[in-house]
Amino acid sequence: MTNNSIPQGLIKGTIVERINWTEQLFSLKIKAPIHPFKAGQFTKLAMYTENDEWPRRAYSFINAPDDELLEFLLITVPDGELSPRLNNLQAGDSLYVGEDPAGFMTLDEIPEAAKDLWMLSTGTAIGPFLSMLADPKSLDRFEHIVLVHAVRTKADLVYQDRMTALQEKLGTIFSYIPVVSREIVPDTLSGRIPALLASGTLSKTNGVPLDPIHSFFLICGNPEMVRDCRATLEELGYNKHLRRQAGHFTSENYW
Ligand SMILES: Cc1cc2nc3c(=O)[nH]c(=O)nc-3n(C[C@H](O)[C@H](O)[C@H](O)COP(=O)(O)OP(=O)(O)OC[C@H]3O[C@@H](n4cnc5c(N)ncnc54)[C@H](O)[C@@H]3O)c2cc1C
Ligand SMILES: NC(=O)c1ccc[n+]([C@@H]2O[C@H](COP(=O)([O-])OP(=O)(O)OC[C@H]3O[C@@H](n4cnc5c(N)ncnc54)[C@H](OP(=O)(O)O)[C@@H]3O)[C@@H](O)[C@H]2O)c1
Repeated sequence: MTNNSIPQGLIKGTIVERINWTEQLFSLKIKAPIHPFKAGQFTKLAMYTENDEWPRRAYSFINAPDDELLEFLLITVPDGELSPRLNNLQAGDSLYVGEDPAGFMTLDEIPEAAKDLWMLSTGTAIGPFLSMLADPKSLDRFEHIVLVHAVRTKADLVYQDRMTALQEKLGTIFSYIPVVSREIVPDTLSGRIPALLASGTLSKTNGVPLDPIHSFFLICGNPEMVRDCRATLEELGYNKHLRRQAGHFTSENYW
């Protein structure tokens, strides 16, 4: 395959803007005419390499579905095939984008009875929740929206301006709970999400009680965090949500 034959399903996109959060953590805003997506979904990003290969990986949209530019939040996985290459790209460079978005962690999959939405994320997996929060009208049905973002260091707490704006716009309906595990940072929790969930600390932090009728959990990111949250929730009496049987949580592993 040569650079002239783009694999099926990919189209060329152009990077319009890049934000550097740390040396390894960055956002890309991309112009690419892909098919419409729902907040919470992802698509593939791909590059053509010097070995005549097209590595492609899944990345979640963090922009609102109506925005003109696509936006992604990425971390460089050491020795990864694609992410270090993506970290070398700058505004004006091109890359390839999957035309067809995918994923079921979307708001329309959440049962009607759910009133308190808990978004539990590690690292770049805050992404799908940023997209949902980018169009707060789509969250009107909820009485409380709690975004929990667990990261290693303070520098990984991205999009603080959006958090402040959401807090101002949504008031007490919205709680943002940052968790930093490898530094002591004022106004954040320390530790890991599953333990903070099991001990009741998350609920105590914002005063939103957990209850099996109104609480619904979206869990996204590190697969071990996802596994341990699911186990914790099951111990607390909550069930996995299925289309054929309404439950309390849905999850997405990032690897
Ligand atoms: C549905 C979905 C959405 C995703 N969205 C995003 C996103 O928005 N932003 C983002 O940065 N990544 C996201 N990812 C992860 C992304 O698809 C790639 O796996 C990641 O960029 C590594 O690709 P790579 O080619 O550099 O590494 P590879 O060469 O594919 O991977 C090397 C190994 O690193 C591990 N690994 C993969 N991702 C991570 C990670 N994030 N942290 C630690 N270890 C990892 C895996 O065990 C993998 O086998 C998502 C994954 C999925 C499944
Ligand atoms: N974040 C960085 O500073 C940084 C810098 C360069 C490269 N990277 C690379 O980027 C990749 C992703 O790193 P990341 O920091 O975004 O994600 P991560 O390693 O998944 O860590 C994000 C958060 O998830 C927590 N976590 C890890 N395992 C968990 C588990 N089993 N249960 C519950 N919580 C858990 C971490 O806590 P703990 O701290 O307790 O593990 C941290 O608070 C890794 O390959 C890493 O090597 C990261």
